[in-house]
Amino acid sequence: MHPHWIFFKRTLYFGFITSIICLLLFYKYIIVDPRGDSKVKLEVSQAFISSAYYYPTSKSLGSNAIAFNMAIDQISHSMENHTFTVIGTNLTNSISSIATAQEEGFELCRYTTIMGSTNTVENLKTLEIESNGVTVQIPFKKARYTAPKPVIICISPQFAAEQWQMFLMHVHVAHRFGGHLHIYLTSIIKSYFELMQEYERQGYLTLDYWLRMKFSNVESQYFDPNANIMWRNQAGAQTDCLLQYKEAAEYIAFFDMDDILFPKNYPTYLEEFNAVLATNPGTNYMAYGRREHEFVKAPTLSEFSFTELVASLRSSEVVKSSKVVIRTDAYNSTAIHGSKHVSLMTRANVTSPTLVHVQLPNEKDGKRKNTSRNLWKIEFGPLNETIRDDDIRAIEDDIYRMKNVSTIQSLAPKLPNADFYLPIVFKCYYDAFYGVAFDHQPGDVGCLNADFCELPQREEYKCIHSDALYYSGPSMKPVTYHFLSDPFCHSFIFLNATRQKAQVRRTRSW
Ligand SMILES: *[C@@H]1O[C@H](CO)[C@@H](O)[C@H](O)[C@H]1NC(C)=O
Ligand SMILES: *[C@@H]1O[C@H](CO)[C@@H](O)[C@H](O)[C@H]1NC(C)=O
Ligand SMILES: *[C@@H]1O[C@H](CO)[C@@H](O)[C@H](O)[C@H]1NC(C)=O
Ligand SMILES: *[C@@H]1O[C@H](CO)[C@@H](O)[C@H](O)[C@H]1NC(C)=O
Ligand SMILES: *[C@@H]1O[C@H](CO)[C@@H](O)[C@H](O)[C@H]1NC(C)=O
Ligand SMILES: *[C@@H]1O[C@H](CO)[C@@H](O)[C@H](O)[C@H]1NC(C)=O
Ligand SMILES: *[C@@H]1O[C@H](CO)[C@@H](O)[C@H](O)[C@H]1NC(C)=O
Ligand SMILES: *[C@@H]1O[C@H](CO)[C@@H](O)[C@H](O)[C@H]1NC(C)=O
Repeated sequence: MHPHWIFFKRTLYFGFITSIICLLLFYKYIIVDPRGDSKVKLEVSQAFISSAYYYPTSKSLGSNAIAFNMAIDQISHSMENHTFTVIGTNLTNSISSIATAQEEGFELCRYTTIMGSTNTVENLKTLEIESNGVTVQIPFKKARYTAPKPVIICISPQFAAEQWQMFLMHVHVAHRFGGHLHIYLTSIIKSYFELMQEYERQGYLTLDYWLRMKFSNVESQYFDPNANIMWRNQAGAQTDCLLQYKEAAEYIAFFDMDDILFPKNYPTYLEEFNAVLATNPGTNYMAYGRREHEFVKAPTLSEFSFTELVASLRSSEVVKSSKVVIRTDAYNSTAIHGSKHVSLMTRANVTSPTLVHVQLPNEKDGKRKNTSRNLWKIEFGPLNETIRDDDIRAIEDDIYRMKNVSTIQSLAPKLPNADFYLPIVFKCYYDAFYGVAFDHQPGDVGCLNADFCELPQREEYKCIHSDALYYSGPSMKPVTYHFLSDPFCHSFIFLNATRQKAQVRRTRSW
């Protein structure tokens, strides 16, 4: 069911002919707003549909349900109780129904994340959204009805990803406790991508795309969605993951790659989560705080040892805002730290264990080669979480087994052995947000985004990018819809901002 990663070199050339025309169309109407604080109301709210799913049956959505997930301009037109007229058609019938928006965004950003759902025909063949007599047909997929494990851990989109040690820690811990990772990728170092692909082949995880939003054709003024939505639309990715596994998994955890959970009282996540909900009657999801940790990471895969990693783990007193694990019937949409639309009264607040949050691992020589991350000072002391010896041994054996796989042996020497993007991204986040929010720096945070971070080229490590074919529906009011199909990835060195703009030219309209 998962998408196929294909290398589509043709696309690098494709679009050249139409490039000038598209560039004019695209840039004629874009409004540049570097601080992301414009409150200008535009005639049309642009919407980018990330995904739409069809559920022949659903425990919580009813039969023949559809649910779609989009980023939409909420300032030009209020989206709080917006409704969508949806037309579902099968071989014999067509039904028009009204979907109500459930908004999961951040009021300080122009674009918000919205989930809409309604019920439609049996054996759905085409799905359209209608507004004032104009319709647009949007692609949809059937939701999953089977999951590899009862517990799915949705990992928010990885961009400029290079921290393979953190990934190995997470994937092996999750596997030990019966969790399956669903990982969204935007851009990643090629050897690290190949490492993930081998873990996917071995059943540890599922890879998925998380695409940058692009409008292939716009006929009125608009703001760039990528730069004007909270954290590159992480809420949209987590909502997509929820909608994919809603009927297939028992529990879904909405984590980042650096949020790692060691169950405290039971050998598996499933038993641990069942027990937490059972001891908190009336609850159907749980919140885990994230305690800051550091660890020393091995520079190479051959030196990577889980025993040594755990021995180097140190805890801080700082426990940051919680992440949630939900029973799949409890949520229809989510933001990063939980849904706005579900009562806190049904949330079990877990105080122990906490997530081992390993945002800033240390390089092995003990010296931080780039000191930008020292900007944010956190004191670390002895490890404060329980990690059982038999689990450490079993995880170490499993790592040993994977290191012995021939494809992993051949890619191991190509894995980056030093930080490159982490200090750059951290510094950019610090300037944009962390400094003000957590470290007494002056300023105001505005729309939390940091899409403007410049990522320089790195010639020695090739990078994989996700991409797709982009489409724009007809001009519609108050909302015009854009979407994509046929995601793929291509091998390319990192694009800097100048090149990213040029890349937009490779999109096409109907
Ligand atoms: C999810 O959607 C269904 C169908 O509209 C509704 O009955 C249910 O209350 C919703 N649940 C949540 C948590 O929003
Ligand atoms: C949206 O609907 C809710 C519930 O019906 C209501 O309380 C709220 O005032 C509405 N908001 C707007 C902007 O109309
Ligand atoms: C089309 O949908 C209608 C309404 O759900 C249903 O009664 C009919 O059997 C469906 N037709 C086909 C061919 O599935
Ligand atoms: C969990 O914590 C929240 C916020 O502190 C609180 O509002 C809620 O009532 C708590 N949940 C339960 C079940 O006690
Ligand atoms: C972890 O720290 C908290 C608060 O600092 C303390 O109450 C708790 O006992 C510690 N747990 C362990 C296992 O050290
Ligand atoms: C490592 O791989 C070799 C060759 O495939 C195999 O014979 C050996 O049993 C493997 N060792 C482990 C610990 O998996
Ligand atoms: C660390 O990285 C940041 C972001 O790229 C850069 O501004 C800074 O000059 C670097 N510092 C050192 C000491 O290399
Ligand atoms: C970004 O790419 C453009 C086009 O290749 C190049 O001219 C420019 O120097 C690059 N900028 C940086 C900061 O690498």
